[in-house]
Amino acid sequence: MRKTKKRKEMVPVIQETKDYELDPRAMIQTFDLTKIYNITEGIEIKALNGVSINIKKGEFVSVMGPSGSGKTTLLNMIGALDNPTSGAVYINGTNVAHMDDNQRTDLRLKEIGFIFQFYNLVPVLSAYENAELPMVFAGRTKQEIEKNVNKFFDLVGISDKKDHLPSELSGGEQQRVAIARALCNEPSILIADEPTGELDTKMGMEIMKLLRELNLELNQTILMVTHDPMVGALAERMLKMRDGKIIETVITNN
Ligand SMILES: Nc1ncnc2c1ncn2[C@@H]1O[C@H](COP(=O)(O)OP(=O)(O)OP(=O)(O)O)[C@@H](O)[C@H]1O
Ligand SMILES: [Mg+2]
Repeated sequence: MRKTKKRKEMVPVIQETKDYELDPRAMIQTFDLTKIYNITEGIEIKALNGVSINIKKGEFVSVMGPSGSGKTTLLNMIGALDNPTSGAVYINGTNVAHMDDNQRTDLRLKEIGFIFQFYNLVPVLSAYENAELPMVFAGRTKQEIEKNVNKFFDLVGISDKKDHLPSELSGGEQQRVAIARALCNEPSILIADEPTGELDTKMGMEIMKLLRELNLELNQTILMVTHDPMVGALAERMLKMRDGKIIETVITNN
């Protein structure tokens, strides 16, 4: 396929990186990122159309924009879940396109925690078992796992719900389990796609407050997509997207 061929050509081109001005303080940098989906012959969708962003270590940034504006696509590129059509993503100074499969898996597992709108918990596993999964995959010891799950369940306020199945938890509690799961490998980046989308306003605000506290306490870099302007405004900086582009940046003074 044309797309695959293009990527193969891009990867070894070292001079490509020379043109990028890397910022040593950046945790996430993207350069002229594009993503084109070919849905049917001759019809292309430009989901991302030249996105360049710079997110500093420890910064809390929200991404807002109408449905279809490219928010999830942007997160997927930054989280190394998908490849851009052109442009580059640097995580902590490393070009994701230059990583091999093992390095990418390591990056996703250890450096990035993902939080999704629909929690994505495994229904047949208890809250504890859900939260420990990334640590099990990362090969952490049983003692480490127990220590961290307990620590983060305490932090997100669900210590008494460890043995509950997801179906026995409220939406807000399920999202707390998902946040504990995202945090347990102590990633440097948290990527959240509509983390409060399924919650009522009060619970949504509580989850947001929690994310902000974690961001300040653990100095994690947080990139969060939201539809809700009140939620978006709780970040330090809001990026507004439309038609695959960042059209405005708002500093909130938070
Ligand atoms: N796998 C795919 N194949 C084809 N088109 C896609 C694919 N994923 C996304 N798109 C298209 O790319 C555009 C951006 O989609 P994206 O999911 O990033 O939007 P979004 O801003 O997250 O929207 P929402 O707020 O509804 O979640 C949309 O037009 C969408 O239809
Ligand atoms: Mg989306």
